[in-house]
Order: sequence, then structure tokens, then C-alpha cells
Amino acid sequence: MADAARQFADRYGREPDGVWYAPGRVNLIGEHTDYNEGFALPFAISAGICVAAAARDDGAIALSSAQHGDGTVIVPVDALAPGRPDGWAAYPAGVAWALLSAGHRVGGASLAIDADLAAGAGLSSSAALECAAGLAFADLNQLALSRPELAALGRRAENDFVGAPTGLMDQLAVLLCQAGHALLLDCRTGAGTAVPLDPAAAGLVLLIIDTRVQHELTEGGYGARRRACEDAARVLGARSLRDITDVSVLDQLGDRVLRSRARHVVTENRRVIDTAELLRTGQLSEVGTLLTASHASLRDDFAVSWPEADTAVETAIAAGAHGARMTGGGFGGSVIALAPAAAAAAVSAAVAARFTRQGWRPPVIVPVKPSQSARRLL
Ligand code: GLA
Repeated sequence: MADAARQFADRYGREPDGVWYAPGRVNLIGEHTDYNEGFALPFAISAGICVAAAARDDGAIALSSAQHGDGTVIVPVDALAPGRPDGWAAYPAGVAWALLSAGHRVGGASLAIDADLAAGAGLSSSAALECAAGLAFADLNQLALSRPELAALGRRAENDFVGAPTGLMDQLAVLLCQAGHALLLDCRTGAGTAVPLDPAAAGLVLLIIDTRVQHELTEGGYGARRRACEDAARVLGARSLRDITDVSVLDQLGDRVLRSRARHVVTENRRVIDTAELLRTGQLSEVGTLLTASHASLRDDFAVSWPEADTAVETAIAAGAHGARMTGGGFGGSVIALAPAAAAAAVSAAVAARFTRQGWRPPVIVPVKPSQSARRLL
């Protein structure tokens, strides 16, 4: 990844003005709560995306990516519009467009992108790309933007340029997390509070199990869940499902599907608060039960898990994990498992063997450590 600067020199025949980095994130718990103004508890991981960039004087944005072949996408800044460019280039270009739409001056720039974070694995490669590009554009154009402002611009790019109707959790996680901590997000106010999360110090490990099933948030499932939540809140006369804390209120929902979707959100908000409290009081291994309960709720009530995730969760727990759950938007991506450090190898081996028996692609299983947020490297 330090190669972003070299890649830049190869592609554009000069040194970059700087290199910016943004990490991926794992959401420990609090799934599909952000767009319901609820709570989430993500942390940044040590894999991410690097953007080497320099200003250019022809008023165009040029984009190249080590993960997307030898071509360079070039679009004049004043021709940026949803759909132009599309594909991977829409994420960084969308941030330049969002900055322009918010009234900021954005000059031409060349960007070379390099990642050690898998796309479509539920680890927020899209937010990492938006935020690394956003920091680069802000510095190159000398824009004084706060991190919450940058997060909102990244979300705008994703919602209105890329066309994925996501919430704000990922961008806030990528820009605000601290090493050794998770970030308790109140998605109504946007406020984040660092909560200690140091699995190694507790003799534990957090494993990411990439199930190798790719997901796309621009496909219909995510948007349909979001609409169901909004419908449920409307029927209940609430501003958002955040305002419902008593599950018995949900009996007022005549529609069985809306009731299940809303029950996930209401119970998940509670689990996030309980998890943060356990972390604050040094009871990390107790969090396992809440992770597993979150998975069951996402599988049964919210219906966004997928067979490989259900199997990974079940197998990890049978092999000694304290708990496990899918992480991210669902329909593909990764599972996280919390296990005693001594059981990590057995958990990984059991999940890998089970996938082989099922005839599925081998999962990629790695330990993760809560890491630092986005920053300028050079
Ligand atoms: C995706 C979205 C987030 C959030 C999660 C589900 O990661 O980008 O905004 O809604 O799904 O918790």
C-alpha cells in the first residue's frame, strides 16, 4: 500500500503532493440502526485504502486504481454528475461532486488508489475510499472541513452519486475511531464516544471471517429494509424507530413483516447500549452472547443474513467462540467472532473445514485489532 506513491509516479509521471489513508471498519454491534437514528459500535481495522494525489491544472479529475487495471478514468470537474463516472471511480469522484454541490471550490486532481482491503466483504471499502479521497480533496483545495462534515459529504457521494441509500455509520467510523477503542455512535446526533476495546489484553481475539460472498448495497434488499423501518415508524407515529424502546409497542403493527423488521431495530439498539456498558466495565467476553443474539435477530427478524454467515456463526460458537455475528449491511460479506485467544486456531480450522464440506469457497479468516482512523501519511 505504501506503493500508492510509486503507482502515482508510474501513472502520472511525477511525484504526488501527498498520500492519504483511510481504514476499513468492522461494526462490533448495532446493525441497520444508523438510518433509524439509533446506536452503533464500530471500530476501525488495520487494513484500508491509500490515495496518492496531486493537483492538476486542466480542471479534470483523473482516477486510477491498482485493483482496477491499467486504465485511468478522466472527467472534467464541471462534468461530474451521478453516473459519470460510474463503477469504482464513482466513489472518489462522488466526493468531489459532493464538495462542489456544498459550495466548495474543487480544482483538478490526479489520484492513484491502492487497497489492502477487500471490496464487497462488508468492511466498508466504499467509505474508506470516499474518506481517503475526501481528505485528499480537502487538503489539495485547502478546505477547512471538520471530520463530521467530511463524513456527511462521503455519505452524500454514496447516496446521491453512487446510488446506495446507506446511513452515516461507516464514514463516521472511518474518520473518528481510535486505536484500542470502539466508537459508540449516537446516529441521531452524530456524536461518537470512544469505548475501550482491547481483545488481546483480555486474552481474547476478534476474528473476521470473510465468507467470500460479495454484497452490493445498491441492490434492492438494503433499500427495502430501510423503507420497512420508515413505514413502521410512520405507522407508530414515531419520528424514527430510535424512539421506540419498549418492544410491546410493536404489537400495534398489524403487518407481521414490519413488526419483525422493527423488532430487530428496537432490540439491537438495546444490545448496543448493553455492549458498550460491558466494554466500559471490562467484561469483554460477556459481549459474545449479545453478538450471537444480534446475529439471530438479523437472520430471523431482519432477514439480511446469508447461509454462509449462519454456518460460520454456528460453527465458530461450536468450536469455542464466545459469540459471533454477521457484520455490515448483510446479503454477503463478513462475520466476526469473539473467541478466547487459545481457541482462535480451532475456530478458524473448524469454519474452514465446514466451508470445504459444504463445497463453498474457502473463507478468509484473520484476527483484527481496533485501529486508528483516517489520516495523511505523507
Ligand atoms: C452498511 C451501510 C451502513 C449501515 C450498515 C448496516 O454498511 O453503509 O450505513 O446501515 O450497512 O448496519
